[in-house]
Amino acid sequence: MLPYTVFIMSALGALLLRGSEGIMERAAVKVTNISRVEDAAYFQLYYGNTFKVIRNLLDGKSYLLIQNTSRMAGRTKYCTARIKSFVIPVTNYSLDVNYFPVSYFELLGLLPAMKGMTSDTVASPCLLKMYNDGQVDRLNKSEPQQFSQYTAHFIGSNTNQQTQLCNYVTYAPMGEQAPLQRAEWIKFLGVFANMEVRANQIYDTVKSNYLCLSNAAANKSQKIHPVVAWMEFNNGVWSFTEDGYKLKFVEDAGGENIDASINKKTYNTSSIDDLEQLHAILCVSFTQF
Ligand SMILES: *[C@@H]1O[C@H](CO)[C@@H](O)[C@H](O)[C@H]1NC(C)=O
Ligand SMILES: *[C@@H]1O[C@H](CO)[C@@H](O)[C@H](O)[C@H]1NC(C)=O
Ligand SMILES: *[C@@H]1O[C@H](CO)[C@@H](O)[C@H](O)[C@H]1NC(C)=O
Ligand SMILES: *[C@@H]1O[C@H](CO)[C@@H](O)[C@H](O)[C@H]1NC(C)=O
Ligand SMILES: *[C@@H]1O[C@H](CO)[C@@H](O)[C@H](O)[C@H]1NC(C)=O
Ligand SMILES: *[C@@H]1O[C@H](CO)[C@@H](O)[C@H](O)[C@H]1NC(C)=O
Repeated sequence: MLPYTVFIMSALGALLLRGSEGIMERAAVKVTNISRVEDAAYFQLYYGNTFKVIRNLLDGKSYLLIQNTSRMAGRTKYCTARIKSFVIPVTNYSLDVNYFPVSYFELLGLLPAMKGMTSDTVASPCLLKMYNDGQVDRLNKSEPQQFSQYTAHFIGSNTNQQTQLCNYVTYAPMGEQAPLQRAEWIKFLGVFANMEVRANQIYDTVKSNYLCLSNAAANKSQKIHPVVAWMEFNNGVWSFTEDGYKLKFVEDAGGENIDASINKKTYNTSSIDDLEQLHAILCVSFTQF
């Protein structure tokens, strides 16, 4: 793991040096509108005067974002396995909607720049309307060349790395363990559109609401907390969640997760044995004596 980290650090160091070449004498120029990462564990932001760097720590990829007003914009283009460059603000983009929080774009006011998506299975009525009105193209995932016409194509982390084009941006709030850490990834998107101020406001609001509610729950003096089994039913199989952020939601809301020692996580309803075991667990956990 170590040589890998060192490589990324040195690559970034080189980027930062290169980016500041022409602006040394103007070092006093103040960079406004910045986002700071407070809670998220898996991305980092760096600001130069005319560029920004985002590091996605989950896949080791870095994005050099060059302001369209900078001289560097026309001259610098990176597209390597580790570093890609974009000229910002990004004025159009497309989206692989699988596991993607489309609402972040909506909250940031960036839906008008959304020009393509891989599926119409999205929760946002606003985006669906745009799609039905023909403002957003439907893209076929089996034909990645369709994505190349957009300045940026945002994908979740599971997409095959081999087929990535130069405009792909891997976006992975799913990799974070806690709800607030996931929410903070709205700043990652804001950076591409110079929308830091708005992204900060949204995150601050989400965070203060969340902490207010979790403090209120923590302040309740009762000794016994409601026991919660967060379960999923899929193709005839019940499973207990193993997602860290869901377990944390339960705790922060004043609940208690069903016993962590339950180590069998999935129960197939076609199996009598499985069903019997599942009923037993639920009975033991939820019966008040
Ligand atoms: C930079 O982007 C902004 C916002 O899209 C646009 O108004 C402006 O014309 C662009 N400037 C240049 C030099 O491309
Ligand atoms: C998507 O592209 C593949 C491969 O070209 C094709 O077989 C499939 O029919 C396309 N799907 C749709 C919905 O157009
Ligand atoms: C997206 O923006 C780029 C750069 O401004 C432009 O060249 C491209 O044609 C645009 N694509 C679409 C689909 O609007
Ligand atoms: C900084 O944020 C303000 C308020 O959102 C906005 O009006 C301004 O254009 C932004 N400036 C830059 C350089 O992004
Ligand atoms: C919870 O208790 C703390 C410490 O007593 C207090 O500062 C805080 O205001 C309380 N929060 C709520 C939401 O009641
Ligand atoms: C559930 O069990 C049935 C019967 O053994 C089996 O056919 C089915 O594939 C199982 N389902 C899953 C998702 O494993």
